[in-house]
This record gives sequence, C-alpha cells and structure tokens, in this order.
Amino acid sequence: MKISAKNFTAIALVGLAALGFIGINGCVEGKQLAEKNGMKLWSENCQRCHFSPSSNAFSNEEWKTVGMHMQSRALLTSNERDKIIEFLQN
Ligand code: HEC
Repeated sequence: MKISAKNFTAIALVGLAALGFIGINGCVEGKQLAEKNGMKLWSENCQRCHFSPSSNAFSNEEWKTVGMHMQSRALLTSNERDKIIEFLQN
C-alpha cells in the first residue's frame, strides 16, 4: 500500500492527539490519586476516636501541630501524617 503525504499527516495527527490525551489524563489521574490518599487516610484514621475535624477548623500552622500530636495517637507514619496535613491545609 502506498501512503501519500496527506494520509501520513492524518495518521500522525491522530497519533499525536491520542498521545496528548493519554498524557493529560495521566496527570489528572495522578493528581486525583494523590489527593485521595490524604483524604482517605484522614477519613480512615481521624474519626476512630472523635469526629474528623474539617480542614477549615484550624490554620495551616495549627494543622502542623495537631498533626504531630495526632500522629502519636493514631500511630501514623510520618509519610501518612504529612499526607493528611497536606490535605487538611488545602
Ligand atoms: C487514638 C485516638 C485518636 C486518633 C486516632 C486521633 N485523635 Fe485527635 N484527639 C484524640 C484525643 C484523645 C483528643 C483530645 C485530647 C488531646 O488533645 O490529646 C484529640 C484531639 C484532637 C483535636 C483537637 C485539638 C485541639 O487543640 O482542640 C484535633 C484537631 C484532632 N484531635 C485531630 C485529629 C486528626 C486530624 C486525626 C487523624 C490524623 C486524629 N485527631 C486522630 C484522639 C485521637
């Protein structure tokens, strides 16, 4: 089969569009996953002993202190604590 220049351009454009779509989607998905993790950890851990405090209950600075305090209570790793704090600070 002979591929004309016109056909080739069309094929290339479809390919590029598909790549772009996957690229954008990949980023969006990554971001949602990262957000979910902090939120998930928060919802799974922070209401075991009391109501999960909402993110606007404390300032960003206060959340750091609360995070340190509750990390020892909830037995979280530093990584988990950071994710929860990051989620609550937004
Ligand atoms: C093992 C039980 C337990 C878990 C799990 C727990 N907390 Fe607490 N939390 C407490 C207790 C008890 C207090 C009140 C006494 C204190 O401050 O130690 C408290 C108090 C708080 C307060 C109030 C602090 C203040 O100064 O008024 C906040 C905010 C809070 N927790 C957030 C969290 C967050 C966020 C998480 C999840 C990372 C969490 N807690 C997980 C037991 C827990």
